[in-house]
Amino acid sequence: MPLRVGFVGSGMMAEALAGGFDASGVAAFSDMCCVDRNQPRLDLFASWGVTPCATATELAKKCDVIFIAVKPYGVAAVLEEMRPALSKDTLVVSIAAGVTIATMEAAAGEGVPIIRVMPNTPCLVKCVAAAMSAGRYCDQTHADTVSTLFDAVGKIHQVKESLLNAVTGVSGSGPAYVFQVIEAMADGGVLAGLPRGVAQDLAARTVMGAAKMVIETGKHPGALKDGVTSPGGTTIAAVAELERCGVRSAFMRAVKAAADRGEELSKQ
Ligand SMILES: NC(=O)c1ccc[n+]([C@@H]2O[C@H](COP(=O)([O-])OP(=O)(O)OC[C@H]3O[C@@H](n4cnc5c(N)ncnc54)[C@H](OP(=O)(O)O)[C@@H]3O)[C@@H](O)[C@H]2O)c1
Repeated sequence: MPLRVGFVGSGMMAEALAGGFDASGVAAFSDMCCVDRNQPRLDLFASWGVTPCATATELAKKCDVIFIAVKPYGVAAVLEEMRPALSKDTLVVSIAAGVTIATMEAAAGEGVPIIRVMPNTPCLVKCVAAAMSAGRYCDQTHADTVSTLFDAVGKIHQVKESLLNAVTGVSGSGPAYVFQVIEAMADGGVLAGLPRGVAQDLAARTVMGAAKMVIETGKHPGALKDGVTSPGGTTIAAVAELERCGVRSAFMRAVKAAADRGEELSKQ
């Protein structure tokens, strides 16, 4: 029996996930349902073969896994609306930032398995870095289902819910830091005489390639850095300049600042 996946809220993140699941073969468009208050979004999903539903409740009756992909302020209301159609057999997966599992369990009702996921925008290019926490009505099968889906469009880790703000600090907000790095490296290339387009492409591909080396070799990034810094060479000259500017300390502080801000926001 194929997995039936539903999206409540069919915006950018739902589009990225649905497209990635279908392309990787873990769930087909023809086994997906969607709901959204914008007809153009429903039409777009329908053009791929996804079944549009009139209400979230109708969708809940048709799906095994229901993604809640509306903005955070709308999550509790959507779950309360679906409550009569939810049961221990419908897995709810929320990607909304900052909405706690306890809030969602209260809205969805007793026994409904809920998993909270913190994805990031590279989801849009099928390269998500995500983490999840499972609610008290979940078992290993529920976590495995979510792992299978997200590992098809990147990678997901399982963490305690209290660590999801730290995840926000590293990977949720992280793409913005890396965009700044790419922009700054490209600026440096332009300063050294390169055309803007060439400098930006070189910078972006360097970040992508270096990231792939860390993931694919499993080596410590410090060891990889040591491997490309020859005595008295160009790279160690640049590394020394980055150390003088406190780059590593700046990144650590940035990650902690985002995690702390997530903590503050979740208390409001
Ligand atoms: N985008 C990111 O970088 C990112 C990263 C991590 C997590 N997230 C989380 O992902 C979730 C979705 O983000 P997104 O960027 O995909 O948002 P989005 O593009 O605005 O998509 C949400 C869609 O759901 C619709 N909607 C809202 N309430 C609804 C309701 N009650 N019934 C039916 N449809 C409804 C919205 O319609 P309207 O436009 O009319 O409101 C919109 O079309 C958010 O909770 C966000 O926190 C996003």
